Amino acid sequence: MKILVTGGNGFIATNFIKLALDEKFSVTSLDNLSYAGSEDNHKIFENNELYKFLQEDIRNRNIYEIIKKEKYDALINFAAETHVDRSIKDDTSFIMTNINGTHNMLSSCRDLIDKKVLSEKFKFIQISTDEVYGSLNKDENPFTEKSLLKPSNPYSASKASADVIALSYYTTYRFPTIITRCSNNYGPYQYPEKLIPLSINRINGGSKVPIYGDGLQIRDWIHVDDHCRGILKTLELGRLGEVYNFGGNSEMTNIDCLRSIIKSIDPGKNTEELLEYVPDRPGHDVRYAIDSSKSFEELGWEPLETFSSGILKTISWYEENLEWLRTRVNSSEYKNWMVKNY
Ligand code: NAD
Ligand code: TYD
Repeated sequence: MKILVTGGNGFIATNFIKLALDEKFSVTSLDNLSYAGSEDNHKIFENNELYKFLQEDIRNRNIYEIIKKEKYDALINFAAETHVDRSIKDDTSFIMTNINGTHNMLSSCRDLIDKKVLSEKFKFIQISTDEVYGSLNKDENPFTEKSLLKPSNPYSASKASADVIALSYYTTYRFPTIITRCSNNYGPYQYPEKLIPLSINRINGGSKVPIYGDGLQIRDWIHVDDHCRGILKTLELGRLGEVYNFGGNSEMTNIDCLRSIIKSIDPGKNTEELLEYVPDRPGHDVRYAIDSSKSFEELGWEPLETFSSGILKTISWYEENLEWLRTRVNSSEYKNWMVKNY
């Protein structure tokens, strides 16, 4: 199978491409190499003849020509601006990439299907997020695929917009799309502005981890490999026009998540000494929780990692790849963001 992976040089897509190459897929990674995506994430694929890289922006018209020329069997769209806090400071690129960029690819593929350039078996997998459902109270049931979309911030609103445009293409044109919605991922290659790599970096350096508000917000953490296996299953078995949720069965408060990371890195440390309470994120979602029973029943998928097993592997990866981490946290882009946000 020949696939186009957009946003291929970011965190989740890099882990996905590793899995897809193991399955002997022919993979093109397309990425505009924004601050979150980097060519050095793909050094590991350098000698793999099934792998190719294209530097391109999903908003450009050139996307049409690329897909027309290469006639992919599937497009998996990971490309997005992804950091909630950045979307709160300035949402322009979120609207442009997450909505307009996705629309550019949907409409290009639709035209190429009409013209029979793309085969009848072509699939467009839109990688979305549980954040489109908004926030749950502590006693509410986890989100199912039928839950209302009630995004709370510009990032999640832009992702929800892309989802409904994709679904409207299915309803109107029978466009072959499937949407996946996953909870918070952690694992190798995550840009260290996100909570888990940020805290691994800080704790290893002996500095404090900023915790928003009271730290009692709940997230469901999933190891990135479990998410990526779910995406492969979706490509293989998912029904067109459907949405599939993927959760990690690991709901916990941000404080408990950080306590567990501190204990794993430095068991002797007084955890409270490493936490610094900072002002809360505006519109901060209180709780995310995901019901993955549809993916379990239809795709035969379930998460294999527990948080305790996955976080140990993840900490080890960052400790073994200090150079990767340092390149990012020492960049002026990263330092500017830290000053702007904290
Ligand atoms: P990331 O920020 O690490 O990667 C995004 C990639 O997209 C980067 O390589 C970036 O350079 C690229 N990109 C951004 N704008 C682009 C553009 N205009 N043209 C081409 N490439 C562009 O993000 P991630 O965490 O790997 O997330 C990947 C996808 O998964 C996103 O769609 C996100 O919404 C979704 N998702 C993420 C999580 C999570 O916890 N990280 C959870 C559920 C869903
Ligand atoms: P994040 O990794 O940004 O993912 P998301 O906002 O998509 O859930 O944040 C995870 C949780 O951690 C979220 O509740 C916000 C919180 N958080 C902090 O408390 N401090 C931080 O410095 C960051 C980046 C996040």
